[in-house]
Amino acid sequence: MTDLAMNNKTNVKRPSLAVNIAGIHLKNPVMPASGTFGYGEEYAPYLDLERIGAIVTKGLSLRPKAGNPTPRIAETISGMLNAIGLQNVGIDDFIKFKLPFLREVNTPVIVNFFGNTLDEYGEVAARLADLPEVAGLELNISCPNVKQGGIVFGTDPKAAAEVVSLVRSRSQKPLIVKLTPNVTDITVIARAVEEAGADILHVDVMDGHFVPNITIGPDVVRAIKKYSTLPLDVHLMIDNPDRYIDKFAEAGADMMSVHVEACDLEKLLPLIRKLKCKAGAVINPETRVEAVIPFIEYADYILVMTVNPGFGGQAIMPACLEKVVRIRKYIYEERKVNRAILIEVDGGIKTSNVKDAVKAGADIIVAGSAIFGSKDYKAAIEKLKK
Ligand SMILES: Cc1cc2nc3c(=O)[nH]c(=O)nc-3n(C[C@H](O)[C@H](O)[C@H](O)COP(=O)(O)O)c2cc1C
Repeated sequence: MTDLAMNNKTNVKRPSLAVNIAGIHLKNPVMPASGTFGYGEEYAPYLDLERIGAIVTKGLSLRPKAGNPTPRIAETISGMLNAIGLQNVGIDDFIKFKLPFLREVNTPVIVNFFGNTLDEYGEVAARLADLPEVAGLELNISCPNVKQGGIVFGTDPKAAAEVVSLVRSRSQKPLIVKLTPNVTDITVIARAVEEAGADILHVDVMDGHFVPNITIGPDVVRAIKKYSTLPLDVHLMIDNPDRYIDKFAEAGADMMSVHVEACDLEKLLPLIRKLKCKAGAVINPETRVEAVIPFIEYADYILVMTVNPGFGGQAIMPACLEKVVRIRKYIYEERKVNRAILIEVDGGIKTSNVKDAVKAGADIIVAGSAIFGSKDYKAAIEKLKK
């Protein structure tokens, strides 16, 4: 895909990293994330600004904003947390004091901006529309609409469409819409099943390595947590779960399970408990039950997969229920720790086989298609519970 361009000084052929994004020509695809690079000039003493593909400015609003009181940045072992509060100089001072500097730099400038009402978005877009120094716009829609009860523009499809079409009508500049990670659908569904009578929300996290599918990460877990009061049971179908457990705990997981096939359970289950989450050990259909028995004592629950993890809609593998019987027996007869250890089953559970799972010894039933494949979540949950 890359052209080969000649480097005159060394006579070495170097690949061209040039890209075109929405009509903006970038010499390479390196752009700082908005808010991490100020207005560009702050970094000029340390970096030749002409070496990066584009400068993305700190988010801009109609009026200046002071942001949150300090401290508003904290370093944690799982990364940096920040709540800057969108501090910025406002559009007037940006045009007066920041743009003249950027004009002199031979690098495209993408202005990130936001608003708290539709009018504010529209006005900022219009003010930027005719400025030749601005190569493109990045629209931050992760802000609450104060005129609509504080609902975040980007979490409501109608509001998101409205703000984008308004901005589009005010400016012909290339427009990048920066979506909020707090996606709507899953939270709406979370609330719907909570109202329909679910007791726990089970979230499947897949990484495309441990299982051949990719789903969600900690940000989505955090979003669900905001919308639901139910315990969140996060099933990590991922390689190296040790790298991520603190992120999911911080995002609001109440229960977290990791696979015997993916990690050292003796090490990880106590770490999950330390993070104040219930710790689950998961066993895949093809793994012998003996593999998990030595770790039962470290767990709060054992999740027995009754299908191969990775995709919904599969039929139950009834032989896996024998593992439930075996684990139940161990918990009754041989367990040494003095706390409850529950058994959860996941995969292909329907009204036709839920009794078998319970009879085998399951305490927690995970159901996907049986609920989401029906029109009436409440009726489906009631049927399963019967
Ligand atoms: C200190 C800081 C300030 C930020 N300010 C903004 C901002 O003003 N506007 C915006 O759209 N995103 C802002 N962000 C979000 C980043 O642009 C980026 O989307 C986010 O950090 C995710 O990328 P990362 O995982 O590489 O950090 C900010 C991030 C940080 C760390």
